[in-house]
Amino acid sequence: MSRPAPDLAALIARRRPGYTLEAPFYTDPAIFEADLEHIFYRHWIYVGVEPDIPEPGDYMTVEIGRAALVLVRDDAGEVRAFHNVCRHRGARILSERKGMTGNLVCPYHQWTYDLGGRLILANHMDEDFDRACHGLRPVAIKSAGGLLFVCLAEEPPADFDEAAALIERYTAPFDLRNARIAHEEELIEAGNWKLTMENSRECYHCNVNHPELTQSLFEYGFGFSPADAGPELLEQARAFETAEAEFNTIWRRCGWPLAAIEHLDDRPSGFRIQRLPIAGAGESQTLDTRIACRRLLGTLTERKLGDLSIWTQPNSWHHFMSDHIVTFSVLPLAPDRTLLRTKWLVHREAVEGVDYDLKKLTEVWQATNEQDGALVARTQAGVESAGYVPGPYSPHTEGLVEKFTTWYVRELAAGLGLA
Ligand code: FES
Ligand SMILES: [Fe+2]
Repeated sequence: MSRPAPDLAALIARRRPGYTLEAPFYTDPAIFEADLEHIFYRHWIYVGVEPDIPEPGDYMTVEIGRAALVLVRDDAGEVRAFHNVCRHRGARILSERKGMTGNLVCPYHQWTYDLGGRLILANHMDEDFDRACHGLRPVAIKSAGGLLFVCLAEEPPADFDEAAALIERYTAPFDLRNARIAHEEELIEAGNWKLTMENSRECYHCNVNHPELTQSLFEYGFGFSPADAGPELLEQARAFETAEAEFNTIWRRCGWPLAAIEHLDDRPSGFRIQRLPIAGAGESQTLDTRIACRRLLGTLTERKLGDLSIWTQPNSWHHFMSDHIVTFSVLPLAPDRTLLRTKWLVHREAVEGVDYDLKKLTEVWQATNEQDGALVARTQAGVESAGYVPGPYSPHTEGLVEKFTTWYVRELAAGLGLA
């Protein structure tokens, strides 16, 4: 049974604030295409970290929807991005996820591009053939403290510069550029990318679903309803407030900016930066809440520094702790399939088995990702069901979900010329 194309303008117009989206937003192929066109091909998309390509000649391929890209570090040490599409007859040039190369050579007829994307060799062309007009097509790329964002738009949203500068400032002590990827994983979730993002923006579900993560994470740091506060909840909320006061003292002593900065739904390049206390020993998002890596990041000397959390619209979130960084990139594959790429980073000189145990470093977010993937699949199954109608977000614990959804609907409308 084929479904009629949805009336996107009508769906956008009747979106009810404070509620989940109507089913077609999560299921319809035409809306998935609109998401690619107006969100993923227009905004700054988080794709990886500078330590993915630490040396000149290192490259990494990335796909955003149907756009195949290659990120390379050129001879001057600058990170560049290009369409991974040969200017001869369009063959995909690089097919490995990561590698190292002196030049980018198309396997088909060996057109050869340097690391700056210039076409430097093309045999059997006329002598008046202008190689300068056939370089790789560049893609906008920016590093925000070592987090790499690309934008496929002809005119990328300029407001990202402010977000990048603030991310740079807040993350500087963790020196991501001098970290090393200790481990990375890809998880394909059986759900729409927006369900992955919505799920990542709240901890309403953490208490019951994330026994590992909640060792270190205060569920109540994300808010709670005083209306139904029993003694246990009040005790946990008090514990959070006590920890927050203690961490504020630590962060102040470090001379670090304390203020949370939130622009999740008031601009094209929405973002949020917030320091959060870590529970227990307060050191790291590990099972015992203590550092997983003895060699701390950058030139840090204190273990107990809490969690610097960063969120960007439409597709990322990150945790910076004294000993390691965990970073998440969400990429849509199909209306009901989403790629979640997770990377764990430690100081680049940290040695596995000496400074850190890989299992301890990764087990909390590995378990959490699996649990979240199952929740996303469960929700996808629900929103595809006949009985689904939009439901209300908790005003106390799902404020960031509402901001994501509001941002998404507004940017989609803007892209469609409806705003
Ligand atoms: S398609 Fe790349 S060299 Fe021919
Ligand atoms: Fe979760």
